[in-house]
Amino acid sequence: MRASILIGAVAYGLIKYFAGGVCRCSTRLDDLVVVITGGNSGIGEALAFEIAKKGATIVLACRNVEKGGNTKLEILKSVKNYTGKIYVKHLDLCSIQSIVNFSEQLKSEFNEIFALVNCAGVFYHPQSLTQDGFEITLQTNYLGPFILTHHLLPLLQKSVHARIVNVASEAHRNVNVYDLKAVTQCQSEFRSHFVAYGVSKLALILFTKELAKKLSNTNILVNAVNPGNVETPIYRYFPPLSNPWLYALQWPIRIVVVKNPFQGCQTLLHALLTSNRSTGQYYSDCKLSLPSPIAGNDKIASEYYDLTLQIVAKYFNTESEC
Ligand SMILES: NC(=O)c1ccc[n+]([C@@H]2O[C@H](COP(=O)([O-])OP(=O)(O)OC[C@H]3O[C@@H](n4cnc5c(N)ncnc54)[C@H](OP(=O)(O)O)[C@@H]3O)[C@@H](O)[C@H]2O)c1
Repeated sequence: MRASILIGAVAYGLIKYFAGGVCRCSTRLDDLVVVITGGNSGIGEALAFEIAKKGATIVLACRNVEKGGNTKLEILKSVKNYTGKIYVKHLDLCSIQSIVNFSEQLKSEFNEIFALVNCAGVFYHPQSLTQDGFEITLQTNYLGPFILTHHLLPLLQKSVHARIVNVASEAHRNVNVYDLKAVTQCQSEFRSHFVAYGVSKLALILFTKELAKKLSNTNILVNAVNPGNVETPIYRYFPPLSNPWLYALQWPIRIVVVKNPFQGCQTLLHALLTSNRSTGQYYSDCKLSLPSPIAGNDKIASEYYDLTLQIVAKYFNTESEC
């Protein structure tokens, strides 16, 4: 009897520990527009539910608009007294034309937006090139958000206060500057899917740092967040988790150490709502945290921003937007 109480108490303590931080901000988002990429699944979908409770008008930017429509219906059904609106719009980050079309549509329908949450992403995706000729994980997780963000800056600049939240990952710590250049310049010798993912997240944190510097005299705060390890469909390509037998073996441990999407969206929510006006920072478990030394390096951030511009400059005019 005593042993089972002890085991229960230890399991409860561990579950609480691994659930991570909880956003305690009471800020409301009534009449404010929040754009969430990947808002139809996992962490982005959980965030959409949470900000609906705060009254936000939400744009679900989805590759699969049918799934986005289901998310919209679920939110409308479950969030009581919701006063905002939900728009479901098509966005494929693997197509620069789609990013441009999506941005133009938003500019024609909204006068301003309060926040852009760059949440969409892929992990361990089979290696291939997008129709634009970039490595697929890099374009989905970094180059696409980079272009989208610049396209939406004019709408963000019209809001009295605005925020950009870039969803990163602790995986950024596993790569180095050599990997960063190899993947970005699409050199075939980069080592694995996992390296491509780590690079995309390192790139996003460096972008966050440099963009925050460029926007320091504006109304816009830009931060990166680490959601933690979260149970979502993102692991669909990852052999140890996509195999049902291997997954079943890990399940007893995963229910203790892996967050659910509600827990996983807390740091994103915090970055949107906090009264702390830090910018260019990295949040983890609803607190400011330090990224890797490479991700925190101003010179690398500045040089990498310029390298990215060289690669994608032809798709937009940054001079007028940043
Ligand atoms: N889960 C974790 O443990 C974890 C840990 C650290 C960081 N993250 C980050 O958290 C973010 C959200 O991931 P998640 O875990 O919530 O995974 P998820 O449930 O698979 O959600 C990813 C979302 O991104 C969308 N997406 C993928 N490719 C896209 C494209 N080309 N264009 C537009 N949308 C696209 C997906 O759309 P479809 O529904 O059409 O596939 C989906 O809505 C990602 O940036 C991920 O890297 C997750």
